Amino acid sequence: MQTFADVVSLRDQLKSARRDGRRIAFVPTMGNLHEGHLTLVRKAREHADLVVVSIFVNPMQFERADDLNNYPRTLDDDLSKLNGEGVEFVFTPTPEVMYPDGLDKQTFVEVPGLSHMLEGASRPGHFRGVSTIVTKLFNIVQPDVACFGEKDFQQLAVIQKMVTDLAMDIEVIGVPTVREMDGLAMSSRNTRLTLSERQRAPVLARTMRWVGSQLRGGRQDYTSLIEDAQDQLRAADLEPDDIFIRDANTLQLANEESSKVVVLMAAHLGQVRLIDNITVELSSSANDGEEE
Ligand code: PAF
Repeated sequence: MQTFADVVSLRDQLKSARRDGRRIAFVPTMGNLHEGHLTLVRKAREHADLVVVSIFVNPMQFERADDLNNYPRTLDDDLSKLNGEGVEFVFTPTPEVMYPDGLDKQTFVEVPGLSHMLEGASRPGHFRGVSTIVTKLFNIVQPDVACFGEKDFQQLAVIQKMVTDLAMDIEVIGVPTVREMDGLAMSSRNTRLTLSERQRAPVLARTMRWVGSQLRGGRQDYTSLIEDAQDQLRAADLEPDDIFIRDANTLQLANEESSKVVVLMAAHLGQVRLIDNITVELSSSANDGEEE
């Protein structure tokens, strides 16, 4: 496994791999790798001969300095996990390499609409930060395929739209969420939960699955369904944040055309904001609900 901190040497190696006809898959990460990331790496491997992983905690997508500073950084451990997966190249740039003129002077990429709704409404600038860094990384690596987790459902939608709109010649693959035995979606942020918070955390996934079963059962009163879900979270001492039930393809309010909806849930537990989502196929009689 080779590790690169600068753009030129990574590009040189990738050029020669491309000349040899090798297909390149890319997995962008912010490090603190867990089984969810390694699943992305294994999926990437299925689609290519050479896997590139980036580890970069991207300051442009954090709205709060304390969140950026507290983001867990575990480079040595990450590199040994990637080595164990047989990853060929790891890119570990510094903020100075990615943003030499600073964030204020950085050209940005922004997907309109999708970036400002839902999670984007409560985290202004977040998706601009994600689409800008992913574009830069795509330009550096020029992969044939790139893998992203479905856990960040809206992020995946933003990237798919960006790739289509900007005619990027990259196949974007969404990989299902990997869960702990008790259902909690794996996330780097889980390491910041105390023992007692960790025990309560699976309530988010349980509540989400309950909402899914209500929808499958034909429940259409989305507003009161969301209130019921909030009550269940509060009963376990989780502080509900955004909960949305949306058309899974457009992320707009579900309507009579919607055959599949996504339940997007976020809740605070101690210092951590947990997120999760589930998609639900609707029978034709269960798809004309409303939501606040
Ligand atoms: O999902 C993440 O870890 C990040 O948002 C990404 C895609 C690596 C961009 O910084």
